[in-house]
Amino acid sequence: MSRNAGFFALCSVSAILALGISCPAGFGAAMPELRTPKAPAAPRINGPVVYGARPAHPFLYRIPCTGIRPMHFSAAGLPPSLTLDRNTGIISGSTPEAPGNYPVTLKAVNSRGRVTRSFMIVVGNRLGLTPQMGWNGWYTLYERPADADIRKAADAMIASGMSEYGYQFVDIDDGWARKPGSSDEALGDPIRNSDGTIRPNVRFPNMSSLTAYIHSLGLKAGIYSGPGPLTCAGLEASYEHEDTDARQYSSWGFDLLKYDWCGYSKVVKDKSLPELQKPYIKMSSLLEKQDRDIVLNMCQYGMGDVWKWGRQAGGMSWRTTDDLGVAKGSSLPGFYTVGLANAALDAYAGPGGWNDPDYILIGTVGDANHSDLAAQPTPLKPEEQYSYMSMWALMASPLFFSGDMTKLDDFTVNILCNSEVIDIDQDKMGRQGKVIRKNQQELVLAKPLADGSVAVGLFNLSEGPLTISIDWKDVARSGKLAVRDVWRQHDIGSFADGFKSQVAAHDVVLVRLIKPGISLASPGK
Ligand code: GLA
Repeated sequence: MSRNAGFFALCSVSAILALGISCPAGFGAAMPELRTPKAPAAPRINGPVVYGARPAHPFLYRIPCTGIRPMHFSAAGLPPSLTLDRNTGIISGSTPEAPGNYPVTLKAVNSRGRVTRSFMIVVGNRLGLTPQMGWNGWYTLYERPADADIRKAADAMIASGMSEYGYQFVDIDDGWARKPGSSDEALGDPIRNSDGTIRPNVRFPNMSSLTAYIHSLGLKAGIYSGPGPLTCAGLEASYEHEDTDARQYSSWGFDLLKYDWCGYSKVVKDKSLPELQKPYIKMSSLLEKQDRDIVLNMCQYGMGDVWKWGRQAGGMSWRTTDDLGVAKGSSLPGFYTVGLANAALDAYAGPGGWNDPDYILIGTVGDANHSDLAAQPTPLKPEEQYSYMSMWALMASPLFFSGDMTKLDDFTVNILCNSEVIDIDQDKMGRQGKVIRKNQQELVLAKPLADGSVAVGLFNLSEGPLTISIDWKDVARSGKLAVRDVWRQHDIGSFADGFKSQVAAHDVVLVRLIKPGISLASPGK
């Protein structure tokens, strides 16, 4: 079956005016096919079905839900220490003190219908039971983030609808601290206050007010530092100030710390495993002592096979490779190089600890090799963007968009916000897809899902169309299985023994193989 038909729809000015669509700047007069169907007007609750939180800490969760507003939310079984804002769907309060599983039934009602979804709050020590989702400013703002940019990104996460699909972290990357030795008043001395607490540069006048703003939207705030004396951009980092900094990030109200090795190369004794692990064990144990949940995103580019010990070192995710923004491919774009390296590490990912192949660089995004230049529309072809997002979801990767949130176009939102693609990434079993086949021409990845179905990506790595197949025996299944086209969210049909599809160059066909009798309309819900 050809999945390549009707790829382009005209994106003329009249179409834009009549249909209210916007065209990504890079696509000229042709608007690539939006495979993701428009969200129904009736409510649909998206995102994870399990959520880890630590006892008696502040709790914040915005129920991701599409459908027309006004919407009214309720949550049966919500522990009494939590309250739900019925209009916004924001749950806040204090996580119960007693560890254990708290099953909740989330409900959303609007003028077009109602929906319920089971949601398990797992109170214990583990955070990140499903891969983190959000936005990180690095590939747009580089070393120049400012308070206003971060607020605008948070606003756009709501306005674009991304929060309705589970995107929740709004992360500042490098560039918020001060620069030792700088003569620039905005960046220079004093680097720390007399009590040792770290000082943001002038672009961040009030971190507490910034996180309070992000939290008021039901979103979470992330910050960046590193174990060395300096960050990659040469700004103050946490070396010999770890305790003070962990307390500071917590008191400012941050929910995630990306901790980037970089300047630690200057102080590390050698590259032995204990030396590689030491700074992360130190920071994670300090974060655990704080009175709020702070997710630790380890960033050290895969040294010492970090995937084998990142979880024990206290990380909820660990970058497995160098920066994707500077990765090169041969005939394929760089994300394949990173994705294929990460795909081999499926044995190490699972609830509470994820392989991190770096951010989703699509939309309007800066060039890491020329970070002084303004962000531009991604050079990736539409087919490549479908492949990128499919590969990340099949690998249970953290999903962080790092393009410009203020320049989101319909095509980019269609890539980022497909509820069934996100269900694959966020599946509660937390298995990373396995490589079933990989050669010069094709890649087949298969991810078993909690409801017994299997998500399969048929990726064409070649320069022309190919027919790519999957045998049920490759995924330990037999008999008749229903095949669902995940991007287009429709059922293709039932097949015995296997399935094959034509796949365009650099494109993907992402399917979900489902046992007969299980509802296809809303798998896994
Ligand atoms: C490293 C990291 C990037 C980014 C920059 C910031 O290169 O890998 O993700 O955080 O540092 O300087």
